[in-house]
Amino acid sequence: MKRMVTILAASLAMTSFTGSGLAAEQGETVKMVSKQEQQEMVNIAHRGASGHAPENTMGAFQKGVEMKADYIEIDVQMTKDGELVVIHDTTVDRTTNGTGKVGDLTLKEIRQLDAGSWFSEAFTGESVPTFEEVLAEFQGKVGILVELKAPELYTGVEEKVADALIEKNMSAPNNNKIIIQSFNHESIKKSKELLPNLSHGVLTGGSWANVTEEQLAQFASYADYFNPTMKIVTDELVSNVHEAGMDIYPYTSRSQEQALRLFDLNVDGIITDYPEHVYSHPVKNS
Ligand code: G3P
Ligand code: CA
Repeated sequence: MKRMVTILAASLAMTSFTGSGLAAEQGETVKMVSKQEQQEMVNIAHRGASGHAPENTMGAFQKGVEMKADYIEIDVQMTKDGELVVIHDTTVDRTTNGTGKVGDLTLKEIRQLDAGSWFSEAFTGESVPTFEEVLAEFQGKVGILVELKAPELYTGVEEKVADALIEKNMSAPNNNKIIIQSFNHESIKKSKELLPNLSHGVLTGGSWANVTEEQLAQFASYADYFNPTMKIVTDELVSNVHEAGMDIYPYTSRSQEQALRLFDLNVDGIITDYPEHVYSHPVKNS
């Protein structure tokens, strides 16, 4: 296991979690886990290690790899001229020095924008990556959790993503290094038909707090992951998702307390802006 984990775990193991934080507020205590349990928790760097570098940039993805995340999570959209780019919002306004909708700009126009300086001057010059660029750089180095972001805006985006993965030989059976997910569940059904050998996930927001066993069974007919907002995660939800045969990767942990709570709820993976939090669960000596 990683040296960093051991050091962080050792220091945290000496800390009482009953006096502060979310768990304590809820009257919970943090359980000790085995090293194996810690190793098995899947660590997903949300939009890259976006607590440390500008989201959805090569710098954030590289940071995620350096921090030993198992996956980087990326948001894929399509430009006016049909190119796949990696950016979260449907406009470039918040995360670049430009303005306008992603779908109204050409790739050339988007590539001229600065996607780093809004976060910190140290990242000036980062650009909006293409999907192709991310695959080329990170294939074989880290898993990639691909979110089809607002696919209803981009006719044919599922086919383009599938073509790019097939072209790079990343659509092989049992390729557990690529997972495709979306809040648009029809889009995921379509993607599953195009890429039947790849794992897919449904993203769900707060309105799915009372998801029924029947609904989970329906999701499980085409998806392998049920990935909800962490706000609705309970023991019962985790258990029901597992009963349905899916894994659960909640989003988005942004504090140590949030990561520890998810860990103790027995989720399978944690989508976080801070990969270091996932490696900080107190570990048993034995
Ligand atoms: O991977 C889950 C998470 O990325 C979904 O929310 O808004 O950050 O894309 P969002
Ligand atoms: Ca996302």
